[in-house]
Amino acid sequence: MTTTGETVPTRRRLIAVVAATPAGVIGRDGGMPWRLSRDLKRFKRTTMGGILVMGRKTFDSIGTALPGRRTIVITRQGDWKHEGVLVAGSPAAAVQMADQITAPGDLSVAAASHESVDASATAPAFVIGGAEIYRQLLPDCDELWLTKVWSGVTGDTILPITWEAWRPTESMRFPAGKKDSVPSEFVRLVARAGESNGGE
Ligand SMILES: NC(=O)c1ccc[n+]([C@@H]2O[C@H](COP(=O)([O-])OP(=O)(O)OC[C@H]3O[C@@H](n4cnc5c(N)ncnc54)[C@H](OP(=O)(O)O)[C@@H]3O)[C@@H](O)[C@H]2O)c1
Repeated sequence: MTTTGETVPTRRRLIAVVAATPAGVIGRDGGMPWRLSRDLKRFKRTTMGGILVMGRKTFDSIGTALPGRRTIVITRQGDWKHEGVLVAGSPAAAVQMADQITAPGDLSVAAASHESVDASATAPAFVIGGAEIYRQLLPDCDELWLTKVWSGVTGDTILPITWEAWRPTESMRFPAGKKDSVPSEFVRLVARAGESNGGE
């Protein structure tokens, strides 16, 4: 508590962002088996200025640090590095690292591209996958921003999640646009208190 009685959060809020089919498919052959331009635009808009936490394989599928955001990659490889990327040896270390980013001066990628990054303690960090990282960090996430991909496509990577532990708060459906292969739906969910909301 501060002198004004305000509660100071002990850690940065974590928001998981994922696109999944009704069967839980999130990936295939190292990528995503759909084209959803609408969702990519939403992802860019909603994460801009924030901190992204991801597994090394997901980083490989993106291939670069996304501009205007701070990237933390989780890997067990002690010598792994990539320009503009912070490296964490475990999911817990990544969360701790996100908590420690406190000043725009820490954010060299954003500084280099002259874009602003919201590093204030109240700004969330976004956990953006893949399955291995969702399995380990979903239980710590406060919200889940889900894009339901209305498709029966098969894949090799499935979202590990306990749906009952998440409460939907809003949803919006979208028809497939010109640059989308399928219709989609955006659903915002919050973690139900006291329940394990992810993992296996
Ligand atoms: N639909 C979506 O929203 C979405 C989002 C993200 C990703 N994806 C898809 O998901 C697939 C990738 O997911 P994935 O589960 O295979 O991989 P991932 O979670 O992106 O990355 C796995 C890697 O993270 C590192 N790692 C995991 N646990 C660790 C720990 N406890 N300590 C240290 N490092 C750890 C390891 O890296 P090292 O091997 O380097 O040690 C591991 O190989 C791709 O197909 C991608 O396109 C989909």
